[in-house]
Amino acid sequence: MLYHARMDLPTLDPCAASAGTDVLLAARPWLRMDVQDGLLFDGVSLAAIAQGVGTPCWVTGADTLLRRVRTLQAAMGQVGVPVAIHFAMKSNDHLAVLALMRGAGVGMDVVSGGELARALHAGIDSAGIVFSGVGKTDAELDAALRAGIGQINVESAEELHRLSARATTLGLTAPVSLRVNPDVESGTHAKIATGHAETKFGVAHDDAAALYAQGTRLPGLRMDGLAVHIGSQIGVPAPFRDAYRRVAALVGDIRAAGHAVRRVDCGGGLGIAYGDDASLAGVPAAWAGAIATTLGGLDLALSIEPGRWLAAPAGLLLSRVIQTKAAPTPFVVLDAAMNDLARPALYDAFHAVVPVAPQRRAGRVMHLVGPVCETGDILAADRRMPEMRAGELVAILDTGAYGAVMSSTYNARPFAAQVMIGGGRWSVIRPRQPVEALWAGESVPGWLVRA
Ligand code: LLP
Repeated sequence: MLYHARMDLPTLDPCAASAGTDVLLAARPWLRMDVQDGLLFDGVSLAAIAQGVGTPCWVTGADTLLRRVRTLQAAMGQVGVPVAIHFAMKSNDHLAVLALMRGAGVGMDVVSGGELARALHAGIDSAGIVFSGVGKTDAELDAALRAGIGQINVESAEELHRLSARATTLGLTAPVSLRVNPDVESGTHAKIATGHAETKFGVAHDDAAALYAQGTRLPGLRMDGLAVHIGSQIGVPAPFRDAYRRVAALVGDIRAAGHAVRRVDCGGGLGIAYGDDASLAGVPAAWAGAIATTLGGLDLALSIEPGRWLAAPAGLLLSRVIQTKAAPTPFVVLDAAMNDLARPALYDAFHAVVPVAPQRRAGRVMHLVGPVCETGDILAADRRMPEMRAGELVAILDTGAYGAVMSSTYNARPFAAQVMIGGGRWSVIRPRQPVEALWAGESVPGWLVRA
């Protein structure tokens, strides 16, 4: 089944590419252009932040982030049974973000021992932690068991046996949900679709009931339920509904065979509008509706694992123009690059870019690029926006998810500074990495250089 999901990810949306600043801001009420101070994010001047900490700089809006958590929680309230939210912290794992989530009663979806350690360090209640991923090492499984986390999503028969062995060795019981691959097309970019049969994720739908039954006979396991995640940046409810319908049928089959199914984890994947058309964004109420109609009446503890929808719009990347370069389509060379924001180079992803200064000049089409020595280091291609000059600031929007977490230090470019704003204040939540930190852990073997 193929969906022509309306989405922004695989290609540049020509409408969005030519949209003016006004149109882009109208779709994002948390941003506002002030005639004096320029672009404001949750009422805070971005020029002032750039002045204070320099660029490139990631800015996270705590007020916007919390508002989105509340919106999603309210939407899930309509399902009729509680739906727990586990934030997919792979999208943004900063301790301040995790602290905000904890305060809002949100648990965590982790995919590595590192994320587990981070979540525990942030004070997340272990019962509210779900561990997903196709390749958890023995050490990672042991850490999860010892921490007493609430749910381990098992993705293969092999992992089920290994988890049973680890739990037995430790004398503990593993709370297992079997991740099912429902074999539906999510209509999203190939690199982030996970719910069709050829991906590495989950157990084949047809094998799931038998494997679940097998799990009930293995020592050290408590088979609690099922999990499903079909992909990311999904803007329409149909793929969710299809996947959940298949999971609901499986719940019926497993129960008919005499086994308890107590919970279903509905995964993440709700998309946002990266361009100028807010109607393309995933709608929490529609997602909740897909869950309610398929799984709501089955006496299950339900949960979701959203990342992008919560975090992406709540963050932006502030960057300064190093210089412009004349060309048939002129280049604007920014001080942010693909090592900071990898998504455009990796997925041809579209991110709207808005000048921070209030003054307007005539618009023209340009390429906004980074200084990294790669042709692919293009942050925004063929973009119509006011002519830019050296020293001017731009905000690269919707980078609060899969932004800073995917940064590297390629080209010996230190990790950018991070700032959080909230209640009209701003604080540095991670200083720019000093260049010396790049080689701090390195050593040269004594035998290599002879005196
Ligand atoms: N649960 C599981 C098992 C996942 O694999 C993911 C994302 C999520 C939840 C959260 O999905 P979300 O709600 O954020 O769509 N780096 C890519 C996205 C990769 C998503 C990987 N899995 C990007 O920048 O678009």
